[in-house]
Amino acid sequence: MSSAKPVILTGDRTTGPLHLGHYVGSLRARVELQHKACQYLLLADTQAMTDNVGQHQKVTDNVIEVALDYLAAGIDPKLSTIFVQSQVPELAELTQYLLNLVTVSRLERNPTIKEEIRLRGFERDIPAGFLMYPVSQAADITAFKATLVPVGDDQLPMIEQTNELVRKFNGTVNHRVLLECEAVLSSVSRLPGIDGKAKMSKSLNNAISLGASVADIRKAVNRMYTDPNHLRIEDPGQIEGNVVFSFLDAFDPDATALEELKAQYRQGGLADSVLKRRLNEHLQVLLEPIRQRRQQFAADRGEVLNMLRRGTEKARLVAGQTVCEVKAALGLNYFS
Ligand code: TRP
Repeated sequence: MSSAKPVILTGDRTTGPLHLGHYVGSLRARVELQHKACQYLLLADTQAMTDNVGQHQKVTDNVIEVALDYLAAGIDPKLSTIFVQSQVPELAELTQYLLNLVTVSRLERNPTIKEEIRLRGFERDIPAGFLMYPVSQAADITAFKATLVPVGDDQLPMIEQTNELVRKFNGTVNHRVLLECEAVLSSVSRLPGIDGKAKMSKSLNNAISLGASVADIRKAVNRMYTDPNHLRIEDPGQIEGNVVFSFLDAFDPDATALEELKAQYRQGGLADSVLKRRLNEHLQVLLEPIRQRRQQFAADRGEVLNMLRRGTEKARLVAGQTVCEVKAALGLNYFS
């Protein structure tokens, strides 16, 4: 059976529930793409284990939380296949073969890995599993012959490394077994944290979760970093680095009105509180149905687990087929 639809693979580490940064960075695109493509969504618990040694329970607890976020955001299990990475051993097997095609120094040069090593303070004590997770990510993508990968821009080095591995593997066996892939980036630039830091992240305590309550959202908007020099309403204000405007850029449907507000703010005479009220309204409208769906699904965890089991079974069949092709191409098919 061949399908004309492109195959998409994407996923999230299960270290915590998802937040608005994930929504803007990739989740929103996935909800659209599931109508146009054959989409696989990976709950990356194995990958989350690579830098959460001793905190495995946090990782396993969050598998269902991220699944709930997917369902709440509008991922439809009839259109997308949601599955659990650790329950697809074929991915570990494929990783093993790909690992021979990359050097340790190339892995150490991966910009995302470099940054994560710095952030976690690993210095030279890097868990080997952590250093090689871009290879396991390449296995995730190639096992499904995915050609499109919706990700945030921090994941671009992973896509590049995946494509290097694909070319290396195909070149080694002189056969086009694996497919190269392309990132699907969101058109909106990355959402900052509410404190103005470049990245929204639960661990930095600057995130708005997808399950945030009405009061949580209002509090987060009120806490948002604006322009520290905009002290009096009549003072001219700055748009650049102003978190409220970054969020309005991402969520305000009325681009013309927003441009007018920006001009007025630059000139002076527009209060932060007016902008915050506007943003709060947009966020409440966006997040209310998400929160409600999340609560509905959370009330029937058994059904969510059944959905994950079915998705994982399907994923194993597809990944298993690719692993067979990979092993055959390497001559690892003695008995067939
Ligand atoms: N690295 C991604 C993250 O940190 C998760 C992930 C694992 C992923 N495998 C993937 C993303 C394959 C896209 C494709 O969230």
